Amino acid sequence: MGRANKVVLAYSGGVDTSVCIPYLKQEWGIEEVIALAADLGQGEELGPIKEKALKSGASESLVIDGKETFAQEFAFAAIKANALYENRYPLSTALARPLIAKMLVEAAHKYGADAVAHGCTAKGNDQVRFDVGIMALDPNIKVLAPAREWGMTREETIAYGEKFGIPAPVKKSSPYSIDRNLLGRSIEAGPLEDPMTEPPAEIFLMTKDVAETPDQPEYVDIGFEKGVPTSLNNQSLDPVTLINQLNELVGKHGYGRIDMMENRVVGIKSREIYEAPALLVLINAHRDLESLTLTADVTQYKRGIEDTYAQLIYRGLWYNPLKEALDAFIDQTQERVTGTVRVKLFKGNAIVVGRKSENSIYAPDLATYGAGDKFDHKTAEGFIYIWGLPTRVWSEKTRG
Ligand code: ARG
Repeated sequence: MGRANKVVLAYSGGVDTSVCIPYLKQEWGIEEVIALAADLGQGEELGPIKEKALKSGASESLVIDGKETFAQEFAFAAIKANALYENRYPLSTALARPLIAKMLVEAAHKYGADAVAHGCTAKGNDQVRFDVGIMALDPNIKVLAPAREWGMTREETIAYGEKFGIPAPVKKSSPYSIDRNLLGRSIEAGPLEDPMTEPPAEIFLMTKDVAETPDQPEYVDIGFEKGVPTSLNNQSLDPVTLINQLNELVGKHGYGRIDMMENRVVGIKSREIYEAPALLVLINAHRDLESLTLTADVTQYKRGIEDTYAQLIYRGLWYNPLKEALDAFIDQTQERVTGTVRVKLFKGNAIVVGRKSENSIYAPDLATYGAGDKFDHKTAEGFIYIWGLPTRVWSEKTRG
């Protein structure tokens, strides 16, 4: 009797997850491995992947389209929260993990599996997100992570797979570790491990090098309803199409790259490169629309919430009561965040150049320096007297 009887494995079609199939069966005595490939918009053909899982020994090969849910429930929640980990990373990979965890647990229940598995190694964040997500959704299910334990090098893994008919990668395998979905690409390892090495041009696929961008600026009007994007240039679009179109448009102008040193959950600092053109523009535009529609109090208080929210996502705590409580707060603030933001795309920049909303609380008659000014100028002096009083008293008492 092995560690489990029947396992649902998160399957990507790559060498590691393919090798997991015979490994689970041969080394860990699992009788049946069901492969589950989640389509989250990685832009790959999933037909061959389905086939590959069966050839590698899976008893069943599931391909589940999660794009709509990913955009609507995960990406849009992060946009409402303006979620940026360490103020920069829009969590494009991190957001996918709790959804895949949910798909695994649902499939396990449906097929009567007593365990789920993934191909993450011991050094990354993704293992934390899978494991914690899975245990939150079903505390009784076992989580198996063979690649965390098998201790094989890349070459050994390939050799092991070949014994079970898993072909070695045709191309000389890339030195990078890459994750891709609808929201972006994460690229790490290989030459990028030297923080001083400039990212080679060939690693980017969603964003153009500035030298290759159009010589004319392009404008896009992004429409939001209650904090979520609903249209581009006045055309209503479903969430997946909107993100795809915006990725294309923004990437063409060379905006959306991030190069950062990042603090992982397991305590390691790592060099990460991201491309997330649409998501970054959506967060900037959304934050801008909030500045037109939310009071100063709410805007400023929400900044702290946003940071906590980003950390929860990064650290694998999507299915956590604090996250749910923050969702309630954030959703309440988004009631009036409806309107349009105009973004100018040009030579590696995406600049908000205009915004409007039926819920604007900007009062031009108070702000204006021109005619029609409604601000009561006499009140300023008295206000400042009282506002500054504690500072004046302190100064008098301490400066002598
Ligand atoms: N550092 C990023 C994160 O934790 C990206 C992880 C990329 N994952 C991968 N398997 N290459 O979200």
